[in-house]
Amino acid sequence: MFKIVSAEEAASFINNGDNVGFSGFTAAGAPKVVPTALARRAKAEHDKGKPFKIGMMTGASTGDSLDGELARADAVKFRTPYQSTSDLRGAINRGHAPYFDQHLSHMAQEVRYGSFGKLDVAIIEAADITEDGEIVLTSGVGISPTIARLAEKIIIELNHQHPKELKGFHDIYEVQDPPYRREIPIYKPSDRIGSPVLKVDSAKIVCVVETKRPDEVGAFTPLDEVTKQIGDNVANFLAAQIKEGRIPASFLPIQSGVGNIANAVLGALGDNKDIPPFEMYTEVIQDAVIGLMKEGNVKFASGCSLTVSPAVLETVYADLPFFKERIVLRPQEISNNPEIVRRLGLITINTAIEADIFGNVNSTHVVGTKMMNGIGGSGDFTRNAYISIFTTPSVAKGGAISAFVPMVSHIDHNEHSVKVLISEYGVADLRGKSPIQRAETIIENCVHSDYKQLLWDYLKLNTSKHHTPHTLVASFGMHDQFNKSGDMRKTSWSDYVK
Ligand code: COA
Repeated sequence: MFKIVSAEEAASFINNGDNVGFSGFTAAGAPKVVPTALARRAKAEHDKGKPFKIGMMTGASTGDSLDGELARADAVKFRTPYQSTSDLRGAINRGHAPYFDQHLSHMAQEVRYGSFGKLDVAIIEAADITEDGEIVLTSGVGISPTIARLAEKIIIELNHQHPKELKGFHDIYEVQDPPYRREIPIYKPSDRIGSPVLKVDSAKIVCVVETKRPDEVGAFTPLDEVTKQIGDNVANFLAAQIKEGRIPASFLPIQSGVGNIANAVLGALGDNKDIPPFEMYTEVIQDAVIGLMKEGNVKFASGCSLTVSPAVLETVYADLPFFKERIVLRPQEISNNPEIVRRLGLITINTAIEADIFGNVNSTHVVGTKMMNGIGGSGDFTRNAYISIFTTPSVAKGGAISAFVPMVSHIDHNEHSVKVLISEYGVADLRGKSPIQRAETIIENCVHSDYKQLLWDYLKLNTSKHHTPHTLVASFGMHDQFNKSGDMRKTSWSDYVK
């Protein structure tokens, strides 16, 4: 059987400069004790004046015991594709941790295509493992199949917090690389196409570390008026689309993004009597989905991780047969695959940091320069959706920032992919509208009253008949004013246009 070792001993298999792949997706299913031991090792090496940094490839974000510890230890050679831990975010924004922000569906193939060099070690969290290398994964899949196949060495974190009976939750499938790639045979969210276990070459498993450390998933903040109103606006919009015959009466599968707003939106969809019970083809299965499943409002959820708070995970594990029939966890290359998103006709709902009045969306950069988290799966879904929706509160930072600006300070999703914008004030349906019509709809329906006149005045600055009437010299005026005074409300266009 495999060598059972301490986390410290396992960390000693990893060398300075190695590229390491980690299992999981979000904090769900990410390794915990080995990365923490690795961070201690990095600090000890640095204390001796020696270098110690690793290349870090994950599914998405991870927990603090992985990203947080390695960032605080200054052990990041590079990091990709998504993160959301405050210390790693800080290191990235100070220039201490080189970060590549990528579409999550691309991650496994970029590893296979060799974009980050060879993969030395894969650390995989498992609920169970057999002698011949059959692994039952835990609450997140991520890029595990690819890194386990490509890495020279595999370290297993056997986490007894997750029951062995999770076997049957996962559907492990890896696509072929071009020119041999075929269609992915998923025609409805519940289709299973792969194996319930991850099969690895057991000769590569150098050791197993046992732990009971739970996933570091935080609880959601309670709904406030703004998030509740955004949720209701999304639900009412979709219900009206069914009535108008623009969405089939049987509805279409939903993808819903990460964070508090996404959780509130799902709750509102469940509460709306005009929306029938629905299926999800999504990336992260959050708390609200589990509640909706118990009430019968969500019939099935396909995802990449079960990123739920500890109390909700307990309810899932207490009734595994019920949830096994209703949930499948897939590699992110499949859960986020554009081919399937387009085929199934998803309604996608993600959160913007800011949007501009012509319909471009920034999901990642605060005032154009500071990385928040990353694009995550929002591009995989938005670009290929049946209806792509972005939600955002109309203002941030107590009103000092408007989420709607003349020109986004960074573009993740452009005007060609973004179909609907929704704030707590209302809905801007951008389909079939010219840039000027889009701007009018967004300003009228979504913008906070403190910023409405400012944005109408911006539109009037350019009186030409141009297709997109930007005034380039003023287009970042609101951001510029925020950087100068800390408050976009103080913007005056006459500072830019004499
Ligand atoms: N300018 C500056 N800061 C802004 C801002 C803006 N226009 N809009 C929001 N923020 C800040 C908020 O003030 C908050 O800051 P705080 O943490 O200091 O309080 C933070 O951004 C998060 O905003 P919040 O309203 O709590 O939203 P959230 O938890 O729903 O997260 C995103 C919003 C955009 C950061 C998050 O959805 C994300 O990372 N998206 C990109 C990836 C993605 O879409 N994945 C889903 C695909 S499946």
